[in-house]
Amino acid sequence: MREKNLLLHLGHFCKKFEVYLQLWSTNSDFPSKLINSISYINNSGGKRIRPFMVCETANLFDVNFKNSIAAAVSIEMLHTYSLIHDDLPSMDDDDYRRGRKTLHNKYDEAIAILTGDSLLTESFSLLARNYGKKNPKMCANLILHLAKSSGGAGLVGGQILDLYPKSKTLKDMSKMQFMKTGELISCSSAFGAILGNTSKQDYNNMTFFGDKIGRAFQITDDLLDLSGDLKVLGKKTKKDKEQGKLTLLDFKGVDKAKIIAQDYIQEAIESLLKYGKKAKTLIDLSNYIITRIR
Ligand code: IPE
Ligand code: IPE
Ligand code: MG
Ligand code: MG
Ligand code: MG
Repeated sequence: MREKNLLLHLGHFCKKFEVYLQLWSTNSDFPSKLINSISYINNSGGKRIRPFMVCETANLFDVNFKNSIAAAVSIEMLHTYSLIHDDLPSMDDDDYRRGRKTLHNKYDEAIAILTGDSLLTESFSLLARNYGKKNPKMCANLILHLAKSSGGAGLVGGQILDLYPKSKTLKDMSKMQFMKTGELISCSSAFGAILGNTSKQDYNNMTFFGDKIGRAFQITDDLLDLSGDLKVLGKKTKKDKEQGKLTLLDFKGVDKAKIIAQDYIQEAIESLLKYGKKAKTLIDLSNYIITRIR
């Protein structure tokens, strides 16, 4: 029941969110080929977990949708770029994503690379445009945080280590997974605290919350890769083994990995308890991170 409510709530959010995503990720000065490719990927129906986290964590600190939406769109644009590049033949070489052709499969590789580049670049411009004048200090903080989470010590570094692992140890694999996936998810909840101009304690708490969600999220992604339903998932399964990708499942097995993900979610939920009723949706979202089937 709580998951059903959460999905209704998330669905309602997606409808509003996607209008802004399309509005702010394209511009009439762009070549029409680029507008078409961005529109194609925007309309492919992602789960929108990261932007939902931005708006919901911001809401904990009384920041309304109107003031959090640009930060939410910015993170989703960056996430979308990362998926487009992740699917390229030189990376994971995937032909399907979100139940549709990947961008390089629908158009060509150059279009996919450049569409990713545009989304990445414009994600930062969106933050500057929306928050720069109103609150320059907060804006710089958002930009720096997003850059740190998505650059060489974050998402991009994690993607490098995924392709060229430093070692085959559990420690290095966990670090790689947190960098490639966890950092951006943790940035989403940290954004809520930055937008809310919170105390250091609340900021640390939101970072902690996102950290646990991020770790559980990638374990679930790996579990779904192993045994998810291709049709529901919208992307090819059993690719990690095929491509020799190391995941927690190789070290701990399925059952233990599920328990580890559950423990992360428990810790994430505990970090929300002090916010009372306001955190209800985020608690439901936390549970959904590991029960999701897509
Ligand atoms: C998939 O992310 C890639 C990872 C970081 C594991 P999502 O599962 O959030 O993808 P969409 O946006 O919902 O398609
Ligand atoms: C993707 O991890 C991480 C990023 C896009 C940064 P995966 O390669 O496991 O994601 P999927 O399974 O293709 O969605
Ligand atoms: Mg990958
Ligand atoms: Mg991939
Ligand atoms: Mg995967």
